[in-house]
Amino acid sequence: MNLNISGYGDDLTVNGVRIGDLTPLEHEEIEKTKGGQNYSPLENVVVSHVKDSSTLVCRKPDKNNVASYIEEEIIDGLCCYSAVNQGQLNQTIVDAVVRHLEDEKLPTVPRSIRHKYMSAFLMAVTSLTGMDRVVPKVAGVESWELTFKLCRRWGYQVKKIPKDKAIVLGATGNFHGRSLSAISMSDDADAQRDFGPFVPGIELVPYNDIDALKEKFEKKGDLIAAYSVEPIQGEAGVIVPNDNYWKEVRKLCDQYNVLLAMDEVQTGFGRTGENFAHQLFGVKPDLMGCGKAAGGGILPVSFVAGRDDVVGTLTPGSEGSTFGGYPLASVVGVYAIKVLVDQQLAKNAKIRGTQLLDHFNEMKSEFPDKIKEIRGKGLLTAFEMHDEKKLDGHKVSMELMNKGVYAKETHHSTVRIAPALTIESWQIDDLAECIRDVIKEL
Ligand SMILES: Cc1ncc(COP(=O)(O)O)c(C=O)c1O
Repeated sequence: MNLNISGYGDDLTVNGVRIGDLTPLEHEEIEKTKGGQNYSPLENVVVSHVKDSSTLVCRKPDKNNVASYIEEEIIDGLCCYSAVNQGQLNQTIVDAVVRHLEDEKLPTVPRSIRHKYMSAFLMAVTSLTGMDRVVPKVAGVESWELTFKLCRRWGYQVKKIPKDKAIVLGATGNFHGRSLSAISMSDDADAQRDFGPFVPGIELVPYNDIDALKEKFEKKGDLIAAYSVEPIQGEAGVIVPNDNYWKEVRKLCDQYNVLLAMDEVQTGFGRTGENFAHQLFGVKPDLMGCGKAAGGGILPVSFVAGRDDVVGTLTPGSEGSTFGGYPLASVVGVYAIKVLVDQQLAKNAKIRGTQLLDHFNEMKSEFPDKIKEIRGKGLLTAFEMHDEKKLDGHKVSMELMNKGVYAKETHHSTVRIAPALTIESWQIDDLAECIRDVIKEL
């Protein structure tokens, strides 16, 4: 093996190739030949670094010299699918990390020995969520995966469902990540193709359809351990259920002794104008999973928080994770919460979200032949275009990039806009103006 690595930043050099010398096209080539083809990123652009909490500095091909590139500032309209609610490089979190590594000096120990920061994490999360117990994990999908296991275990041990008969109900259009059980719940053909056989004991009901849920509970309520669901569906294109849906779901779950398990990986941490989306609807789940912004945009941090009788079914050996709640992640997790609370991110999401949705509604009035629907809560927003060939979400994303905004389509005709919750008023106006200009030209 001949491997030589040196330098930092643009000078990072691997086997003689200096990263700062690579054009966007060369980056794409390397990814296409050496990476898994499981994403299709926007063409002709590579992020170099961030300038401030909502501004990315991107490299694009230099029109006059193909062997080179230019740098441009881009407003980040997506903030890593809500992983950076606190804004890029939030100073409070960065200071905590640097101080933790340089002064406090406790990066990594396993869960088989206690470390002092775990207590801080458990106290902060239980206070924030109002839940009895919490288990730290790493990726968002792992929090859902553990939720799924807990629903089954509670079903057998507490609800007394006969062995191996438990059903976990999901909703059509769901997205919970990419693990085998998460895709077993999915109804997206691309996510499932040739990955079977799938995990049994999963059934789906139409999202936001209380009658369908009632019918399912009436037929199979004795075997259903949980309804595991997103309070607002993010990947499906920001689908907000009817005002009363969750209250009625909560009632039905209580009536049939079924757990309500909510996946707040994308909707949590202030995104929708409350700390957690379920608070918008005046209900409390029995179990909830969080990820993304739980790590403050710095580290992958996730967790499951829930009722004592549900999380309490865990026993040593039944669950674990090397990096779930390791010291550095615990510190980042605590400071991600501190910023959420101290900087009143949910309140800002509500104010800026209203401002953005007002712009979108104006845009819909101006272009009713192009914009079909505006959806959103807080700063989790989307506009859906009519289903016509020329109204293409990918084209909109590309044109937005040309005008200095990063956003990405979900499905063919919907574009989700979910910037950092620290975004300022003038940035919302700029962002909305760019979107309007792009829609006008379609
Ligand atoms: C609702 C929801 N759950 C789970 C996940 C998976 O999170 P991760 O990609 O961190 O595994 C996502 C990611 O977008 C999500 O939106």
